[in-house]
Amino acid sequence: MKFALTARRGPLYSRLSSSHYSKLSCAVGFIEGDARRLSFRRQQLTVNTDHAVTTHPPFVDIHCHIVPSIDDGSKSWDESLAMARMAAGDGTEIIIATPHQLGSFRHNTAKEIRHRVDQLNATLEQQSIPLKVMPGGDVRIEADMITQIQADNVLTLGDQGKHVLLELPHEMYFPLEPVLESLERIGMQGILSHPERNQGLLKQPELIEQLVDRGCYMQVTAGSLAGTFGPASQGLAEQMVERRQVHFIATDAHGPRSRRPLMWRAFERVAEMTNWDFAEDICCHNPRLVAAGKHVEIPPQQRPRQTLASWFGWRKAA
Ligand SMILES: [Fe+2]
Repeated sequence: MKFALTARRGPLYSRLSSSHYSKLSCAVGFIEGDARRLSFRRQQLTVNTDHAVTTHPPFVDIHCHIVPSIDDGSKSWDESLAMARMAAGDGTEIIIATPHQLGSFRHNTAKEIRHRVDQLNATLEQQSIPLKVMPGGDVRIEADMITQIQADNVLTLGDQGKHVLLELPHEMYFPLEPVLESLERIGMQGILSHPERNQGLLKQPELIEQLVDRGCYMQVTAGSLAGTFGPASQGLAEQMVERRQVHFIATDAHGPRSRRPLMWRAFERVAEMTNWDFAEDICCHNPRLVAAGKHVEIPPQQRPRQTLASWFGWRKAA
C-alpha cells in the first residue's frame, strides 16, 4: 500500500502507529539561528516500517489563487508550478483554484477557469508534481451573483454545485443573511472567506457568532494565525479558533514568494490552541468534503464563560 506521510518532530506530532507504509515524506529538522527555533527541510524517503509516525491526513486548500495570469494571484505558469511544488511539499493533496470572480474580475468566466485548471493539471502530471487542482471561484458578493451562478458563469467550489466562497469588500460588512437564504433556495451553502480580515467584522466581532448560528461557514486564512495581516486579524482569528467558529483553514495564496500556499504552520497553531482532531477537521476533513460536494457539519460554538463581572457589565478600572 502506498501512503504519503509527513513526519515531524516534537511531542505534539509523535503519534505511533503499527500500520505499514511504503512511502514516508520525512521532515529533516535543522537548526536555524536561534537554537530554540527549528525549521524543517523535507525529503522523500521510501520506507517500510511497522512503526511509522502518523500525522495529519493530506491538506485540502479550498482558497488559492494558483491559476496563472487571471487575477492578482500567480503571474505566470512558472509561478503556478512553484506554488504547486510548495503546496505538495507542505502536505497538500488538493487545491481548489479560486480566481476572483465578479467585482473587478467579471471577465473571469467559469469556462475560462475550467480550461486553465485542466491545463494546469496536465502540466502537474507532466512534471510529476503530486497535486490535484479543481476549479472554483473567490466570488465578490454582488446583486446578480445568484443569477450568474445559475447561468454557469460563476463557479462553486470544486465545481460541485454545493458551496460558494463569498468575498465581502474588505473595508465593510453588510448583512449576509439574505445572500445565505438565496443560496439555500438553490441548494447551496455560503462560505465566508477571511472574516478575520474584514474591517466591519473586526469592529463588530459579535456578528460572527450570529452568522455561525445562522449556518454560515467560516474560512480563516492560514497566514492570519501567524500574524501576516496584523495583530487585529490575528487576534480575531485566534478567538474564532478558540470558540470553534472556524470551519476551514485555507491559504488564500497569491504567489510563491509572499502569501504562499502553506497550511502546516496554521495546522500546528490550531492543534496547539485546541486539539489535534479539530485541526484535522478544519484543515483536512471539512475541506475534503467541500471538494467532494458533500455536506459539512457545523459543530457547536464554544461560548466564552460568563463571569459575575461580565454578567453585570463590570469593567476593570482604567
Ligand atoms: Fe482570495
